[in-house]
Amino acid sequence: MDVLVTGATGFVGKRLVDAVLASTDHDVTVLVRDADAYEPPGDVTVVEGDVLEPGRFETGLEDVDVAFYLIHAMDASGDFAARDRRAARNFERAATAAGVERIVYLSGLGSDADELSSHLASRREVEAILADGTAAVTVLRAAIIVGDGSASFRLIHQLATRLPVMVTPQWIHTPCQPIAIDDVVAYCLAVLERPETAGETYEIGGPDVLTYREMLTKTAEIANGRRPLIVPVPVLSPRLSAYWVGLVTDVPKELAYPLIGGVRNPVVVTDDRLARLVDLELTPFETAVRRALDTESKRGDRTAAPTQPGRNVE
Ligand SMILES: NC(=O)c1ccc[n+]([C@@H]2O[C@H](COP(=O)([O-])OP(=O)(O)OC[C@H]3O[C@@H](n4cnc5c(N)ncnc54)[C@H](OP(=O)(O)O)[C@@H]3O)[C@@H](O)[C@H]2O)c1
Repeated sequence: MDVLVTGATGFVGKRLVDAVLASTDHDVTVLVRDADAYEPPGDVTVVEGDVLEPGRFETGLEDVDVAFYLIHAMDASGDFAARDRRAARNFERAATAAGVERIVYLSGLGSDADELSSHLASRREVEAILADGTAAVTVLRAAIIVGDGSASFRLIHQLATRLPVMVTPQWIHTPCQPIAIDDVVAYCLAVLERPETAGETYEIGGPDVLTYREMLTKTAEIANGRRPLIVPVPVLSPRLSAYWVGLVTDVPKELAYPLIGGVRNPVVVTDDRLARLVDLELTPFETAVRRALDTESKRGDRTAAPTQPGRNVE
């Protein structure tokens, strides 16, 4: 099969490219916005293009059987939902024109019966736009993905470890079903190999359902060996808590604000069809956190290590 991975420089896309190369013999094309800055991990065809610029990315879709859509537009100020809408529409049109058979899209968990945050509503809108085309779309809906490089996990980690005392809004009691990045990648590979998943929407989650309070506490215990004191108060507006999160963490506000807006929505798997279809031993939250922090500290060591002329520090 010819497989396209968009968002190949991102947290999920990067790992997915590695996994497709390591465990399949499919031909892989990656779509990146800056080909000069991209270091291909192996035998991949690199296409430079921006999905917000029609006419400048479509070659990436030529001869593609399955395309992974792993793009979001919360990377700049302004109306991210409008950008995501345009990006998805451009991609759907190009995929239809190129005759792509399937698209796999990683979306957000959350019940349509709830009033979804702007972030989650935008993820749903992208699902619908991609489904307008001729490609059969497989949607995987996930809550927080735990791994080194995940913006949502970085928020949890930094809040948990930078503040000994937290005055929090009531969202601290909202339930969430985080999933380890390894399990997300395994599900992506599983649906790639199963044509019967075309056109289906699945919910994916790890084995633990936790409140944000529990996630913060467990993460702090693993990272610092101590629990922060968490004091929920009834009157902290989402806007105020977004500012507060912006002050404490280094996650850019364009990304942090929409993510924090989503914490009032319970994000728990209610339909486990994919877990029943794919036999996967799901990673417990605490193991996923340990792996994420371990990878982060190894990456930190590599960044800090003195380099010698003519030698790469990998
Ligand atoms: N991380 C999570 O916890 C989580 C949870 C649930 C669902 N998801 C979903 O998973 C998907 C991937 O998320 P992620 O965490 O991997 O995000 P990420 O690390 O921020 O990566 C986003 C990717 O999108 C690319 N991109 C953005 N705008 C683009 C454009 N106009 N044209 C081409 N490429 C563009 C970026 O490329 P550049 O390098 O050029 O910026 C980057 O590779 C998203 O749909 C997200 O909503 C993530």
